[in-house]
Amino acid sequence: MPTFRYAKSQVVLHWVAALVIALMLVTGTFILSNLPNTPDKIGMLRIHMMMGSLVAILILTRVVLGRMLPAPPATDAQKKAHLAQIVLNLTVLLLAASGSVLALQSGLFDAVFGSGALPEDFKVFTARQVHGWVAKAVMALVALHVASALFHQFFLKDGELARMTFRK
Ligand code: HEM
Repeated sequence: MPTFRYAKSQVVLHWVAALVIALMLVTGTFILSNLPNTPDKIGMLRIHMMMGSLVAILILTRVVLGRMLPAPPATDAQKKAHLAQIVLNLTVLLLAASGSVLALQSGLFDAVFGSGALPEDFKVFTARQVHGWVAKAVMALVALHVASALFHQFFLKDGELARMTFRK
């Protein structure tokens, strides 16, 4: 069993980011994208945009903390896991970035925080197509990430998942 543990701040950030990302993927796919662009949708878009920005801040904070705090031993398996983590982080940041570009292109910032109107449909914007495809890529990467954690937990039984918990 490895003795390495992530710091409490890293554990908290990991699980808060995971929860917010999962919530946004589900609500974005099943609620937001199916609603017509009426003024009633503005409140939900506001929450989506603020949570999306929060996700980007949480990920960047985790990256900075990861550089300041002790890292796990650099085994071959750890190097691969680190690479997978970088790909996942970059893809989620790309999702937040494409959402922000869409907001700029479509006048969404003015509709949500000012007095502008929503566009008739977001799907006419290229950034909306990119945002949708990147969301699917994040879902696939999250599924792989979870599958890998479960494989370590139940087949390899190497205690890797325990590093991301508060257990002693
Ligand atoms: C990492 C954070 C984010 C996640 C996980 C996320 C997730 C999603 C998902 C899953 C969809 C539906 C995609 C589809 O079904 O094709 C969506 C739509 C959308 N997102 Fe995001 N998003 C994030 C960040 C942002 C940001 C930062 C903004 C704007 C500043 C934004 C603006 C939008 C808009 C305008 C839509 C279109 C809604 C519609 O089609 O009616 N998103 N998002």
